[in-house]
Amino acid sequence: MSLKQNLVMIVVYTLLCVSERSMGLKHNYGDALSKSILFFEGQRSGKLPPTQRMSWRKDSGFEDGFQLDDDQFFDKVDLVGGYYDAGDNVKFNFPMAFSTTMLSWSVIEFGKLMGQEELKNALDAIAWATDYLLKSTNTPGLVFAQVGDPFGDHNCWERPEDMDTPRTAFFVSSDNPGSEVSAEIAAALASSSIAFRKFHHDVGYSQRLLQRAITVFEFADKYRGSYNDSLGPYVCPFYCDYSGYQDELVWGAAWLLRATKIPNYWNYIKQNIHNVKNFAEFGWDSKDAGINVLVSKLLVNNPASKPFNLNADKFVCAVLPESPLVSVSYSRGGLLFKTSGSNMQHATAYSFLFLVYAGYLNQANKKIDCGGGVIASSMRLKQLAKSQVDYILGSNPLSMSYMVGYGQKFPKRIHHRASSLPSIDQHSSQIDCKGGSFYFESQNPNPNLLLGAVVGGPNINDEYVDSRADFVHSEPTTYINAPLVGVLAFFKSYSS
Ligand SMILES: *[C@@H]1O[C@H](CO)[C@@H](O)[C@H](O)[C@H]1NC(C)=O
Repeated sequence: MSLKQNLVMIVVYTLLCVSERSMGLKHNYGDALSKSILFFEGQRSGKLPPTQRMSWRKDSGFEDGFQLDDDQFFDKVDLVGGYYDAGDNVKFNFPMAFSTTMLSWSVIEFGKLMGQEELKNALDAIAWATDYLLKSTNTPGLVFAQVGDPFGDHNCWERPEDMDTPRTAFFVSSDNPGSEVSAEIAAALASSSIAFRKFHHDVGYSQRLLQRAITVFEFADKYRGSYNDSLGPYVCPFYCDYSGYQDELVWGAAWLLRATKIPNYWNYIKQNIHNVKNFAEFGWDSKDAGINVLVSKLLVNNPASKPFNLNADKFVCAVLPESPLVSVSYSRGGLLFKTSGSNMQHATAYSFLFLVYAGYLNQANKKIDCGGGVIASSMRLKQLAKSQVDYILGSNPLSMSYMVGYGQKFPKRIHHRASSLPSIDQHSSQIDCKGGSFYFESQNPNPNLLLGAVVGGPNINDEYVDSRADFVHSEPTTYINAPLVGVLAFFKSYSS
């Protein structure tokens, strides 16, 4: 080749590389995976261990459960630990348990693709929740549902380390039941017991989790009712159980079936599945699509799983954009949308189910017929999941990543108290309830990077206003990240 030809080649090659990078065609899924797990350290409540890597966070909520008011019949309970739910400092056990279930499912399905280090970090993230969920269910006949008065908390903009708002502990009991929160905790304990049995070789801990899951599920099923009615305005409208508690009962039984193989759980699922009708829904409120995918995978090639496969197929056809039965929307840039706040939770949770179901389709050697000539293969399901995760990481019209600390351009003013206020290291004296307003209203970027946090995301026109006040779009939550951990593990190995 002549010098001139060489130069032309170099120019062409450089252009290709640049355009590939600017279009975000190539992502570092391994880096995103590490960060997506690290995010959970920023949400930790309680006394932080020496291994804490997100070091701008400090101990907080270390008297949770010790100050119960009203005329409760016990003095104190240790409810230290667990996760703050999102950008506030309340521990909402219902979505926390769902996030734990999804972290565990991520590890069960894709843990072996994570690499040793991230697998260990993911198990640590699960244990931070399960240690707390064991405490929340340690008093027989009670299940703690929440710590922190959401009205007091939301009225203030305070670091968790400074909290002086009421840390009221709310519980459900036989008289004031809460089947959704109890059964979701049972699902979290059962699924995590599988993750620990499979990878941690910590048989004792795994057995403790499973035993507790069994007891808590019995309680949830025996004393039926919604925590809506028992805890009223403290849970509604925050994490109101809109879809009812039948789905959590079947979901809990499905995880217990997977963890124990006890036939009674299978009978329970068969007897109650008629209550689970929202085949296209999946998230902290509705578990329906997750049940169908989970049972399909559990009973692969078993004729008894037919009704579950059919409903899981219907779920796929309700989500694929080319399907005549599609019931979700897509932005022009390709992000999945459903009405309800914090849209990114749907993109991550649906992508996760798509990957698990793609594995099922492979094992069962099946394709899905959505009608109108649309046949979905496992490859198509993986493609859809990849389009969502790539959008999140920067392949979108704004070329911005929606994960804090990933890529060149990412949200800088997330709706998150701890991230937006100076850390204790920078500012050791207390910033009180209204003292934080100054930082909330500031146009400056948040001083602390909540690495790995994925926010609610853009609007349906692919636009994003990087504003702390716009919590629907700028707030991270544990249940956005938890399924994403599994999705990223899958693409980390798939791409390498
Ligand atoms: C909980 O309350 C919401 C809002 O009032 C309602 O839509 C929902 O049906 C209730 N759920 C249950 C299980 O009662």
